[in-house]
Amino acid sequence: MTGGVDVYEKTPLSVVDGIPVFSTPDDYVDNYVRISADHLHSLKSEGRNPFIPEEIWMEAEGSTRDLVEKYSGKDARILDVGVGLGRLLSPMDGCRKYGMDISLEYLKVARDKGIEVCLSRIEDMPYRKESFDVVVCTDVLEHVVDLNLCCGRILSVLKKGGILVARVPYREDLGSYLDPGYPYRYAHLRSFDEHSLRILFEKIFPCRFLEWTTAGYREDRTRLRYRLPAGEGILMRLVSLARLGGESCYRKTLRKAFFPIEFNAVIRKEA
Ligand SMILES: C[S@@+](CC[C@H](N)C(=O)[O-])C[C@H]1O[C@@H](n2cnc3c(N)ncnc32)[C@H](O)[C@@H]1O
Repeated sequence: MTGGVDVYEKTPLSVVDGIPVFSTPDDYVDNYVRISADHLHSLKSEGRNPFIPEEIWMEAEGSTRDLVEKYSGKDARILDVGVGLGRLLSPMDGCRKYGMDISLEYLKVARDKGIEVCLSRIEDMPYRKESFDVVVCTDVLEHVVDLNLCCGRILSVLKKGGILVARVPYREDLGSYLDPGYPYRYAHLRSFDEHSLRILFEKIFPCRFLEWTTAGYREDRTRLRYRLPAGEGILMRLVSLARLGGESCYRKTLRKAFFPIEFNAVIRKEA
């Protein structure tokens, strides 16, 4: 189900392929148009996302969708900021679904999944103040240039008492983005953990951090929670041995031994 056009506070600069456009292209937007083109090309030619394995993406999406469903009442108006392909909201029924992004090609795909979309940078937020019950923002806050500005813009369109579900990578090592061979100028610009996100929303913005959940535990020695003087080999072997105890024992061991790849935070706007 989609809603009407009265959600916008601004008049679009143009309408392209039926999609209202509120931002002008620049270096940052062009970077993400290039990333989305590479993504869509790889999906079409090889059937895969070149940036993240499908099973991790699905697990992360499922963890976020569970929270969005938990906190959305019937007929809730939900905005997906940085909607991408619209995968998160598309299976959800009984709500009014909106999405914004800076890639027109992504937006066309999201629109075909029943999401009412517009092209806008978060910085140019076009929606009326306090128009959404729930805002979801997955794998976006680590990308934006001015984090505080963008969080302010996102919160401005959330109703008082409304819920923001944000998912970000957990304690990511950003080194690879500085590699001279890395193909994009902008990608992840910062790393988060539960404390940094909570401090941001509770101390800088008038919000309450309600809960957080994690997703994506894998056998990856670079993400071990513990360091041993004798090296990581012993821990890695212990994790492998946990397989002998069955699936549930193995999953529990993974959660104990490794940091998750992603985490979700549920944040309520208080004022
Ligand atoms: C890693 S993708 C995540 C897409 C989707 N949320 C998901 O979880 O699959 C980041 C998305 O944010 C969009 N994006 C990045 N910076 C943005 C900004 N400043 N304003 C609006 N969208 C932005 C990108 O075009 C891209 O679609």
